[in-house]
Amino acid sequence: MGEAVADTSAFTQAAEHRPKLTAPEAEGVPLIDLSALPEAAGAGDNLHPSSALDDLAAAVGDACKSWGFFQVVNHGVPPGTRRRMEEASRRFFAQSKEEKGKVRRDEVNPYGYYDTEHTKNVRDWKEVFDFTVQNPTFIPVSPEPDDDALKELKNQWPDFPPEFREACEEYAGEVQKLAYKLLGLISLSLGLPENRLNGFFNKDQTSFVRLNHYPPCPIPHLALGVGPHKDAGALTVLAQDDVGGLEVRRKTDGEWVFVKPTPDAFIINVGDIIQVWSNDKYESVDHRVKVNPERERFSIPFFLNPAHYTLVEPLSELLSSDNPTKYKAYNWGKFYTTRKTSNFKKLGVENIQIYHFRV
Ligand code: OGA
Ligand code: NI
Repeated sequence: MGEAVADTSAFTQAAEHRPKLTAPEAEGVPLIDLSALPEAAGAGDNLHPSSALDDLAAAVGDACKSWGFFQVVNHGVPPGTRRRMEEASRRFFAQSKEEKGKVRRDEVNPYGYYDTEHTKNVRDWKEVFDFTVQNPTFIPVSPEPDDDALKELKNQWPDFPPEFREACEEYAGEVQKLAYKLLGLISLSLGLPENRLNGFFNKDQTSFVRLNHYPPCPIPHLALGVGPHKDAGALTVLAQDDVGGLEVRRKTDGEWVFVKPTPDAFIINVGDIIQVWSNDKYESVDHRVKVNPERERFSIPFFLNPAHYTLVEPLSELLSSDNPTKYKAYNWGKFYTTRKTSNFKKLGVENIQIYHFRV
């Protein structure tokens, strides 16, 4: 800063004490335009190498590193697919508790409907419907390390609205393609082949989609839609409506930053598995959801999760004597089942966390 302005306004002085932010950060999480990507890259397909692609990978890498969160536009998910999913979700949640309760999750099957009253969770002000992307999905029966038994879980589809299942399956298929494209960009940004991470998902992935409904909340100062947390899987692709409420903890200063609803955009965040794979280069970041006293809110995260037998550990190509491994390998299925079990029972013990596997 030149001397001419050094002693002028209070504003200038205050600004000097704020952390220095680049322009996009000052406005919130980065927005990335994916139009340089080919339309229909699936798992195993290669994106076409080009300098535009390198630029895109670099932008994704920067966003993963500095925020752990970004929004994408021109992502290739057809608007009609998203609209049909959002409408089916609204129609499903508009039903009576009794009707929705017919597809309630239970101790055996963690997928289906649940609400905060049922789980006695006073913190999260919402109701949820979960379905898996692979149907059926296999996960370990028990968190016990010696118990190898698996359970085969099928989605619980409600009778109403009649188009619900089709809307869900179509949506999951399209968003999965986007998740793979992002996985490719993240691999490239780490200096790895584009398809380096696909093998963890091609067979037996445990990905699932969650329909969230946050009703208006009369005590907004006392409740949160979702309390602060990090996502446990690899990557999350979230559709939020125009109400807003999602907040992300900014890495530079720890402040909660509102994620502005952007029409047709998806919000992407790095989960714990990418944190471990990247040996902490890309950290998963705390986020939470505020409630709204007047308006109900809907959101739809897609959690990209690997096969249950995946051993999660830092990628060997990224390790060196200067960058030794920060984590011991852990079994994803056991981690996931431990979380699901304690979420269901609300055991009052601390949930399993990746830092438990720190070297
Ligand atoms: C989640 C989540 C954010 C939202 O379900 O893990 O962070 O906006 N949801 O609903
Ligand atoms: Ni989350």
